[in-house]
Amino acid sequence: MNILTLQDVAYSYEGSKKKVFEHLSYEFEEGKIYAIVGRSGAGKTTLLSLLSGLDSPTEGSILFKDKDIRRIDRYQYRSKYVGIIFQSFNLLPHLTAVENVILSMDVSGMKYKNKKEKAMELLGKVGLSEDEARRRVLKLSGGQQQRVAIARTLSYEPEVILADEPTGNLDKETEDEIMGIFHTLAQEGKCIIIVTHSQEVAQQADEVKKLSCK
Ligand SMILES: Nc1ncnc2c1ncn2[C@@H]1O[C@H](COP(=O)(O)OP(=O)(O)OP(=O)(O)O)[C@@H](O)[C@H]1O
Ligand SMILES: [Mg+2]
Repeated sequence: MNILTLQDVAYSYEGSKKKVFEHLSYEFEEGKIYAIVGRSGAGKTTLLSLLSGLDSPTEGSILFKDKDIRRIDRYQYRSKYVGIIFQSFNLLPHLTAVENVILSMDVSGMKYKNKKEKAMELLGKVGLSEDEARRRVLKLSGGQQQRVAIARTLSYEPEVILADEPTGNLDKETEDEIMGIFHTLAQEGKCIIIVTHSQEVAQQADEVKKLSCK
């Protein structure tokens, strides 16, 4: 079954007559990795913001499991169904990695018996050591922060994970490790949608969607 479906979607920013894109009809299934590619300015980040429910299409609709996301409670959609990993991570630098994950559990209302244990487990899953998990985020490397951002998203168990250039500033080996995490998550049934400029990342995806500049 499609988890997300775009039906003839077009978008233009408020006050602008120019459409960033139009006539997008895409289908996304669970258990697969998708790469969104295209030149700078083609509308990749804009598309992620529509898929995450931050903004609505100007024309057409987006369905989550056959239901128009406009008809799903926005808070519910964004805190339970889709997880978004921004390029800037949006982590709180003065909190530790574990605290960042716990905070996100609290915000989304997840009720784990032992939040700290669960947070440590998730951070372990994305390859952080216990010592790193207890360290303030500002003292972690870019690749480690990227892992914290993924663990934080996993903490509310979304079915779809959207990531804007998750391997943007990482070396090839770290990029492969992060992609390994995404492959495991796809095998667990999650739908992963990655915006990327990296050919290697695109090659590892099950499907590539290319946006062209208008
Ligand atoms: N808030 C905004 N208001 C008006 N126009 C915007 C806004 N944000 C982005 N745009 C424009 O929309 C187009 C698509 O931008 P977007 O950020 O989606 O591109 P992108 O494909 O993610 O590019 P990049 O690879 O550089 O990140 C660009 O022409 C951009 O200038
Ligand atoms: Mg972008």
